[in-house]
Amino acid sequence: MNREDFPILNKDIIYFDNGATTLKPYILSDSLTDYYNNYSANAHRGDYDISLKVNVMYENTRELVKGFINAKNTNQIAFTNNCTDALNKIVFGYFKHHLNKGDEVLLTKAEHASNILPWFELVDNIGIKVNYIDLDQNHKVTLENVKKAITSNTKVISIAHITNVVGDIRPIKEIIEYAHSKGIKVVIDGAQSVPHMKIDVQNLDMDFLAFSAHKMCGPTGVGVLYIKEELLNDIKPIIYGGGMNVSFEFDGEKEYKKMPYLLEAGTPNIADVIAFGSIINYLNKIGIINIERQEKELKEYALNKLKEVKDIIIYNNESESSIITFNIKDIFAQDLAIYLNKYNICVRAGNHCAKILKDDLGIKNTCRMSLYFYNTKEEIDKLVEVLNKPNIINEII
Ligand code: ALA
Repeated sequence: MNREDFPILNKDIIYFDNGATTLKPYILSDSLTDYYNNYSANAHRGDYDISLKVNVMYENTRELVKGFINAKNTNQIAFTNNCTDALNKIVFGYFKHHLNKGDEVLLTKAEHASNILPWFELVDNIGIKVNYIDLDQNHKVTLENVKKAITSNTKVISIAHITNVVGDIRPIKEIIEYAHSKGIKVVIDGAQSVPHMKIDVQNLDMDFLAFSAHKMCGPTGVGVLYIKEELLNDIKPIIYGGGMNVSFEFDGEKEYKKMPYLLEAGTPNIADVIAFGSIINYLNKIGIINIERQEKELKEYALNKLKEVKDIIIYNNESESSIITFNIKDIFAQDLAIYLNKYNICVRAGNHCAKILKDDLGIKNTCRMSLYFYNTKEEIDKLVEVLNKPNIINEII
């Protein structure tokens, strides 16, 4: 679907690494070129036409993000460098000031490094405790296991909506509802979900959401931090400088701006934020529901086809997203990825930054195919054909 929009797809390449980053349509570079060639001024600083245009375009993206996730107001949306940056700003800008020694945060062992290491830092900095929600036999999170993991010291649950290795869709509505009934805040890492399914932050009653533009056809270098309205005045910056202050004096007196500018110190990534706006318009035109439907069909097709491959081990048969994680018996994951590369097929191999999932999964390194709406059944057939080659071991050796 919409393959003609993607210049890279004119080349002989099969791209199945959309969990790492997606391909980019022509309109992305069109938008970047338009900014750089026609109005490349700074944002929020100039009183002349091209700078005023930048303000309008930059804030227009914020408006589009608001609509895309159904936030109430644009001041709940701060632009960051990526999802990792957004998660760090949530942990160090909010929770560092709201947690005390002995408070507990609940994670899972399937989380990405970006949703674990910042919390480990708070363990070292202020003495919080990290505990893990047990995963079930399919490596999934259930509400039951969340309930079991909660103690009277639990103050926050921080989990991915969809994990990047297992690809399970967590029941976040139920988890958030239960957590709130216990006075617990919830942080959602939406890196693998926002690009693939309809997210309604109000309906889900989200406290915090983080995601990246580059995993949804957008530019690298842009992330989004969403924060619930009632928490807006409680988050603090972790970067200080121009653009985030109202005034300061020689004696240290200072006044900072309110959200979202409070978290956007320095010249922002103007070109990419504006280009991200054109991408949201693009995705809206396709329709996130259509994207979801297309991916579901491709995933089902891929899973059935891959099951035919000799000696394949699929680690997430039960997961709902368009991520399939596998190995071929007796072949090291990275060797398999390099073999597939000979046929211009791109998959990711390794631990996928989820370095403590290995015990639950029973393996450290895997190959991961992650689909997006522009993939096709023919591409999946090609992958299966290449994996089924009788001389695969010889080609790898
Ligand atoms: N987090 C990205 C992935 O899963 C980079 O590949």
